Amino acid sequence: MSVYVSKSLEDTALLGRKIAKKIKDNDIIAYFGRMGMGKTTLTRSIVEAMGGGDCVSSPTFAIVNEYHGKCSIYHFDMYRVNNWDDLYSTGFFDYIDNGLIIIEWSENIENALPDNIIRISISHGNDENERIFEIEGLDI
Ligand SMILES: Nc1ncnc2c1ncn2[C@@H]1O[C@H](COP(=O)(O)OP(=O)(O)O)[C@@H](O)[C@H]1O
Ligand SMILES: [Mg+2]
Repeated sequence: MSVYVSKSLEDTALLGRKIAKKIKDNDIIAYFGRMGMGKTTLTRSIVEAMGGGDCVSSPTFAIVNEYHGKCSIYHFDMYRVNNWDDLYSTGFFDYIDNGLIIIEWSENIENALPDNIIRISISHGNDENERIFEIEGLDI
């Protein structure tokens, strides 16, 4: 596991660029961490670094947002997904192996997550702008 301590938005953007360099097209990145931890912010920097533009927003209302750059990126927000029926309706299983998948609120679908994914758990540090990223499944 790698631990990355971010003290600013710039640090988090740098982490996003590091992750973007290491991931493969059909990887799955699952975030764990409550609201305001920087999940959408980190996603924005990953998508930008992969040529998907700077249009990342929280997919809360859409459940999944798509970006197309060097590869297809599917950005899920599972906040409102509470059971298998909900999850099937998002089309989640059809996206697997068809692009990079990035998931916010993975806590809600933990039993449905494949093995061999990249898990990023984010918690608050001591300072207001400090975030601690614990990364499993990818060496950064
Ligand atoms: N080091 C940091 N990394 C990322 N976001 C930070 C950091 N410090 C403060 N923030 C703030 O925390 C909030 C994170 O929001 P967001 O990325 O939408 O979180 P989430 O998607 O986890 O709910 C933003 O308001 C951002 O400005
Ligand atoms: Mg978010």
